[in-house]
Amino acid sequence: MEKWRTFFLLSFLSFAIYGLLSLVVADDAAIMNKLAVSLSPAPSDWSGTDPCNWTGVSCDANERITAIGLASKSLTGALPSDLNQLTQLRILDVNNNHITGPLPSLANLTNLQQVYLDSNNFSSVPGSFLTGLISLQTLSLSENSHLEPWSIPLDLAQSSSLVTLYASNANVMGTIPDIFGSLPNLQSLRLSYSNLTGILPPSLKGSYIKNLWLNSQAYGLSGTIDVLGTIAQLSQVWLHANKFSGPIPDLSKSTSLFDLQLRDNQYTGIVPETLMSLPSLQNVTLQNNKLQGPYPQFKSSVNVAIGTNNNFCNQEPGPCDPQVTALLSLAGGFGYPISLSDAWDGNDACQGWSFVTCQGTNVTGINLGMQQLSGTISSAIANFTSLKNLYPNDNNLTGPIPIELTGLTQLQTLDVSNNNLTGIIPDFPASLNLKTSGNPLLGNVFATSGSSTSVSPGLIAGAVTAVVVFLGIASIISYKCYSKKRHQKFGQVHENGKEIQLFEGENAVIPIEVLQRVTDNFSGENILGRGGFGVVYKGKLHDGTQIAVKRMESASMGTKGLREFHAEVSMLRRVKHRHLVAVLGFCINGNERFLIYEFMSQGTLGQHLFKWNENKYPPLTWKERVIIALDVARGLEYLHIFFAQQSFIHRDLKPSNILLGDGMRAKVADFGLVKNTPDEKCSLYTRVAGTFGYLAPEYAATERVTTKVDVYAFGVVLMELITGRKVVDTTVSEEEFHLVTWFRGFLTNKDNIREAIDPTLDPDDETLGNICKVAELADHCTREPSQRPDMVHLVNALSPLVEHWEPTFHEDEEILAINLQRSLSSSFVAMAREIGIAKESLEFRVEHGCN
Ligand SMILES: Nc1ncnc2c1ncn2[C@@H]1O[C@H](COP(=O)(O)OP(=O)(O)OP(=O)(O)O)[C@@H](O)[C@H]1O
Ligand SMILES: *[C@@H]1O[C@H](CO)[C@@H](O)[C@H](O)[C@H]1NC(C)=O
Ligand SMILES: *[C@@H]1O[C@H](CO)[C@@H](O)[C@H](O)[C@H]1NC(C)=O
Ligand SMILES: *[C@@H]1O[C@H](CO)[C@@H](O)[C@H](O)[C@H]1NC(C)=O
Ligand SMILES: *[C@@H]1O[C@H](CO)[C@@H](O)[C@H](O)[C@H]1NC(C)=O
Ligand SMILES: *[C@@H]1O[C@H](CO)[C@@H](O)[C@H](O)[C@H]1NC(C)=O
Ligand SMILES: *[C@@H]1O[C@H](CO)[C@@H](O)[C@H](O)[C@H]1NC(C)=O
Ligand SMILES: [Mg+2]
Repeated sequence: MEKWRTFFLLSFLSFAIYGLLSLVVADDAAIMNKLAVSLSPAPSDWSGTDPCNWTGVSCDANERITAIGLASKSLTGALPSDLNQLTQLRILDVNNNHITGPLPSLANLTNLQQVYLDSNNFSSVPGSFLTGLISLQTLSLSENSHLEPWSIPLDLAQSSSLVTLYASNANVMGTIPDIFGSLPNLQSLRLSYSNLTGILPPSLKGSYIKNLWLNSQAYGLSGTIDVLGTIAQLSQVWLHANKFSGPIPDLSKSTSLFDLQLRDNQYTGIVPETLMSLPSLQNVTLQNNKLQGPYPQFKSSVNVAIGTNNNFCNQEPGPCDPQVTALLSLAGGFGYPISLSDAWDGNDACQGWSFVTCQGTNVTGINLGMQQLSGTISSAIANFTSLKNLYPNDNNLTGPIPIELTGLTQLQTLDVSNNNLTGIIPDFPASLNLKTSGNPLLGNVFATSGSSTSVSPGLIAGAVTAVVVFLGIASIISYKCYSKKRHQKFGQVHENGKEIQLFEGENAVIPIEVLQRVTDNFSGENILGRGGFGVVYKGKLHDGTQIAVKRMESASMGTKGLREFHAEVSMLRRVKHRHLVAVLGFCINGNERFLIYEFMSQGTLGQHLFKWNENKYPPLTWKERVIIALDVARGLEYLHIFFAQQSFIHRDLKPSNILLGDGMRAKVADFGLVKNTPDEKCSLYTRVAGTFGYLAPEYAATERVTTKVDVYAFGVVLMELITGRKVVDTTVSEEEFHLVTWFRGFLTNKDNIREAIDPTLDPDDETLGNICKVAELADHCTREPSQRPDMVHLVNALSPLVEHWEPTFHEDEEILAINLQRSLSSSFVAMAREIGIAKESLEFRVEHGCN
């Protein structure tokens, strides 16, 4: 009986499954029959019930269609609109026919890898044409010139395997979407002969594109092509017949570049030496641009078209006249605007050049007032020894007034008013007619020392007040922005960050003299501690604010150039959170590097947890410990969520990197310092990441880094908070030696947990319950990576445990970072003055670093 029942049941089931399957197969067949009918002449064997046997068609084991190959068959007709019901389709090739009508939607064809639709006469692109094509590698639909105008859908970002995208002469319009960060495999991008507009998307930066054809757009792409300098794989670049402008970037990374078509655009500036010496270059066109400077000279093996239609100083190779060279440097500071290319053509600046006046053959006046210039004033201006009048007024110039101007003995008038200049006003002779008004950030703090300047003390006071008021207003604005947004979801802080940005920039570079001053010349008494990277000193600013200065020996770092170090620190400085120790600035001096941090008055968690006795601290209460745990969790959560794209994983969380401030509130330190995977070219350190004991096992074994590595380390810290023991304790017996193993032993039997708890805690029953909850979290955090919670979960789990206790922060705390930055900036200025660093050298440092 029983057997028969099973038999019937099984047969029924297999019938049911067969039925379902054949239903699906029938669907594929139905679509294929539609296709056979709608194309003509369909291949002769495209009839009968089993499309799997048709020419050009492939199926999988379940009789599902996987490939349709109908290239070059002189087909007319259309493609059925429900083609995307062939859900197993991997290859669709109808290239080079005469197919008309709308393109079918390919949406949700998750298996589709290769699509060739080029050289047909399709009429339109459907709405969700390219949605959900997660396996797509090739999409080719060039030469469909009668398509209704369409734009590249953002959905294409889902196709992260995409290698080839061809849509030339296919009537693409709009901007090139900024999705290349999601297309890491893209090698060929051809979008020529269409009507694309706008700029090269920033996400092209660092892509692996080899073949880039964007030439001949009806209206024209615009903006600079600077981003090409970051694409090392480039081999063929066609950008001709567009509206690109600005200088040709340094393409020296692109050692495989053999074909560069730049003609018929509006490029300006000097053809870089690095282009002329590119090793693989074969073909270059430069004609019909606004290129300047010396006539370029390529190797004789290079096939080059330069034309006569640029603004080179000569019509054959050779240097330009020195005054012309210097004027070009000046134009370079402004990013080589087109206006200064057309106006400054030829090799004699005194032959009717606009904006320039001469006496004999010497340039004596440069008048660039109200020319909508941006950029900086080049120090090449110092080469005009006969210069009497310089008017770069009423533009949008930034950066400092070049100190070199003080060397121009003939200078009578300098009008820089109404720009956005910063820095210090150089020490000009009193006789100079100097106009600087309308530059809100131009500092005159230094003007007091020189009696020769015409600036009165009253004026200085006024300027200082103005700056202070401005700072005050700015911080109120950012404070308001923040309080309004603090209850919203993540991501808003960037906007807040923008407000802070106002004070960023020059003051991030702190002169070494100032650091020596504030640390008493790095005296032993000011040493806060030593770590893997070097020594940390305490420093005191002139207003009493304390800072921590991490001094790193060259041995602990890679061969970082100043520029990279600067870039990295600028990024760290943007990471601002209540539970992350703020990075305030940096300095490079010879082989030494310095990072300046906010000072944390109560030292490290390690000192309070393991060395409270020798440091004469009271032992931490349980309440303090849970609050610290939550603070740390919040700091890490921020790192993981906000900076996910930059893979901000701490990797070295441990009690010495958890610092305590007033009220024993915790902040995480040293984030962003340790990175070790090869693709992270921008890390500050090359030291092996992490600290023994806190390293997640899978990380130690494979060096694979995910945010779960921090979760593991956090779990270890939780165990340390509960037990008061270091993760690796050489003073105890072997079975207690490794905290994680030892601690997890207790969790199997909760009754014993009291024995594992730090003896200084001596919890009552309620607290014990609370401790057990944290112990459970610690256990979860130290499991297999897939079983570990993420930081968001941990924050949510810890929050209720401190609800009764946690004092709410004052809103003022939010602008702490700004205040700190402000103290540092003003100290920087005041101290530099006190120390008497030469203004010239100080200003130079602000621009170039501190050594
Ligand atoms: N911002 C700060 N405020 C106060 N003290 C600090 C600050 N930063 C570091 N310290 C002190 O300096 C010591 C050394 O810090 P450092 O970061 O160099 O080493 P570490 O944290 O022990 O190890 P690692 O090099 O792995 O980070 C710390 O243990 C701490 O006592
Ligand atoms: C694709 O699939 C999603 C979800 O599976 C569905 O919502 C959407 O309508 C589908 N799109 C098309 C065009 O079939
Ligand atoms: C393509 O289609 C358009 C109409 O959409 C028609 O005018 C044109 O002649 C066709 N071209 C070819 C080559 O068939
Ligand atoms: C190109 O696009 C612009 C709008 O972006 C439009 O004004 C212009 O007519 C288009 N040109 C052609 C030839 O399609
Ligand atoms: C370079 O240009 C010449 C003609 O100007 C052409 O024949 C040749 O194929 C081109 N070479 C490459 C590598 O593009
Ligand atoms: C300025 O003059 C010096 C010396 O004459 C020369 O070396 C330098 O290249 C010139 N700079 C510019 C930008 O013309
Ligand atoms: C031009 O400058 C040179 C030196 O810079 C000077 O010797 C000469 O007299 C100047 N000529 C005129 C006309 O000012
Ligand atoms: Mg540290």
